[in-house]
Amino acid sequence: CVGVYGESECGDLSSSFLSSSSSSSKLLIKGGIVVNAHHQLVADVYIENGIIVSVQPNIKVGDDVRVLDAIGKYVMPGGIDPHTHLGMEFMGTETIDDFFSGQAAALAGGTTMHIDFVIPVDGSLTAGFEVYTEKAKRSCMDYGFHMAITKWDEVVARDMEVMVKEKGINSFKFFLAYKGSLMISDELLLQGFKKCKSLGALAMVHAENGDAVAEGQRRMIDLGITGPEGHALSRPPELEGEATSRAIRLAGFVNTPLYVVHVMSIDAMEEIAKAHKSGQKVVGEPVVSGLVLDDSWLWDNDFSTAAKYVMSPPIRKRGHDKALQAALSTKILQLVGTDHCTFNSTQKALGIDDFRKIPNGVNGIEERMHLIWDTMVESGQISVTDYVRITSTECAQIFNIYPKKGAVLAGSDADIIILNPNSSFEISARSHHSRSDTNVYEGRRGKGKVEVTIAGGKVVWEHDELNVVPGSGRYIEMPPFGHLFNGIDKVDAAYMSSLHAPVQRSRTAS
Ligand code: URP
Ligand code: ZN
Ligand code: ZN
Ligand code: ZN
Repeated sequence: CVGVYGESECGDLSSSFLSSSSSSSKLLIKGGIVVNAHHQLVADVYIENGIIVSVQPNIKVGDDVRVLDAIGKYVMPGGIDPHTHLGMEFMGTETIDDFFSGQAAALAGGTTMHIDFVIPVDGSLTAGFEVYTEKAKRSCMDYGFHMAITKWDEVVARDMEVMVKEKGINSFKFFLAYKGSLMISDELLLQGFKKCKSLGALAMVHAENGDAVAEGQRRMIDLGITGPEGHALSRPPELEGEATSRAIRLAGFVNTPLYVVHVMSIDAMEEIAKAHKSGQKVVGEPVVSGLVLDDSWLWDNDFSTAAKYVMSPPIRKRGHDKALQAALSTKILQLVGTDHCTFNSTQKALGIDDFRKIPNGVNGIEERMHLIWDTMVESGQISVTDYVRITSTECAQIFNIYPKKGAVLAGSDADIIILNPNSSFEISARSHHSRSDTNVYEGRRGKGKVEVTIAGGKVVWEHDELNVVPGSGRYIEMPPFGHLFNGIDKVDAAYMSSLHAPVQRSRTAS
């Protein structure tokens, strides 16, 4: 019954004996607490050829099947990171983690799929897609693509269609910041939203007011503030709140769903909460750095320590982190990304004399699953089923690849982690798998450790060792018109009739 998604439809497997000639691709995860976003149960998970065949208690297998003991441990869908930048050319340099090193780090931390942002080449989507397809050839885990839109003309509009209909992309990101490079105008944003809506593609925004950020940067430089703290001071939460509100209102005007990436402030989060109250479909994605760090590091006397925390929108003052955690636990924010965009200390030093030149970005792809477990589950803020939802299932559902991804169900891809809640983790640049020489979570310890990662049915992380092969990762195509598009046409129809009805009534009356 491979290909059927369900937990107990394979009733045949518990009574019969599973065996066949080839051995390496067969796994049984025995006796763990299997957790999905909707419920959990103690069960075995049987895997064959990269696919979950059965999830139920007491599955019996032949001796050609490798058995992994998971008693007392959680067996969960591998993490899906909705927001990464591997091999990205940005701010005069290129991220130190490419598709291989970034993915190896991800697997060591329990993430088995990520969605990366294709950056167009001189505005060209097709050229950008080719470049990223090449970059991703060394992949060792499954990945998908979002695509940024950095200019607007007929070719871009047509290429968006090609990306959605032929290339498996169902989301486009619009930058409202990075003036002079990636930033786009409101006019383009509106055109882009309309095109996204017609294609069933999800519009995503980096929400900061880029004009005001440029003004804030000038203000800091005029005041003689050139260090990393100038980064935070030049782009306060108000500018994130404004851009978030504007994007939400314009998406509402077009009536298309919106995904706000890296929500870093109370200001932005409250705009999303307000939109939900009015029934608008807006997804809010906090990132690990915003959930667990505060901005005090940016004032560190040592430049290289302070510079490693420079990302946009900036890491905020203490308080924003706790508010974002609360919003995540109450579903105002829906899923957690990393914005993994890593530069080493030499690269960060490009901005030693001017914070505007420090490449923006922090690590997180390896740390996300551990830090969210420790911060959210261990603290009692969310349940284990919620953990699965915010680290995996929600992402798969939003980007329309559920239940192939994001579930431990018969028929799903065998991307699975075994997490030991009684073990602990410690983060350090000395032991992490990113190529960077620094880690923004240096020295952090916590409870809950991913002891085993299974990707595509293969054990790739076990006993603190990686077993990964470049080129083994697959590109996952993501179809358009995900569930966020349900009902959009009905809202449009109601809007149209609301426009005509009163006008016609008053004209016939006069
Ligand atoms: O600082 C960041 N966030 N770097 C990556 C690019 C982006 O804005 O997502
Ligand atoms: Zn069956
Ligand atoms: Zn961004
Ligand atoms: Zn990003």
